Amino acid sequence: MTKNNKIQLFVKEDLADVVRIENKCHFTPWTKKIFIDSYNAKNLFKVLKSENDIIGYYVILFSADECELLNITIKPGQQKKGFGNQILQDIFSECRKVNIINIFLEVRKSNLSAIRLYEKNGFNEIGIRNNYYQNNCGKEDAILMGLAL
Ligand SMILES: CC(C)(COP(=O)(O)OP(=O)(O)OC[C@H]1O[C@@H](n2cnc3c(N)ncnc32)[C@H](O)[C@@H]1OP(=O)(O)O)[C@@H](O)C(=O)NCCC(=O)NCCS
Repeated sequence: MTKNNKIQLFVKEDLADVVRIENKCHFTPWTKKIFIDSYNAKNLFKVLKSENDIIGYYVILFSADECELLNITIKPGQQKKGFGNQILQDIFSECRKVNIINIFLEVRKSNLSAIRLYEKNGFNEIGIRNNYYQNNCGKEDAILMGLAL
């Protein structure tokens, strides 16, 4: 992990790179419109950068004392270097600022590296949505995870 990376609020100039990374990283990627709508809906949208290069990003939704992790992505080639962990620490810090009690997320059952990252950071499985996501073979379950801050 480089020392001079920083996590900043998303600005519209980041959008093209974010969408490019999103398309490489997800089976059903968010569209440009979803990112714009999500930004306009006042979700917290932050980008991890090294110099001007985008390494990853996240989008979270605050609702009363709960937070939902809507998107977390590290670009290919920069995964497994601790950046996902760095982003999660930033999310925890933002949540504490607004007195969030619980954080929730959904993850594909097959996404073992994401599940491991979440478990290492204290998330537990709290439910399953059967056949929730599409995949190459048809459908797969979503695992709901939660963390009490
Ligand atoms: C899931 C995702 C966000 C994880 O981000 P990441 O930056 O790879 O995560 P981290 O590097 O912080 O941790 C992941 C692994 O790297 C390991 N790691 C951390 N620092 C490391 C280092 N310096 N050297 C080698 N490995 C390291 C961690 O131990 C962990 O390993 P493990 O999975 O074997 O336990 C990323 O893989 C991603 O964007 N995937 C595509 C999109 C996606 O699936 N998003 C989540 C949807 S719910």
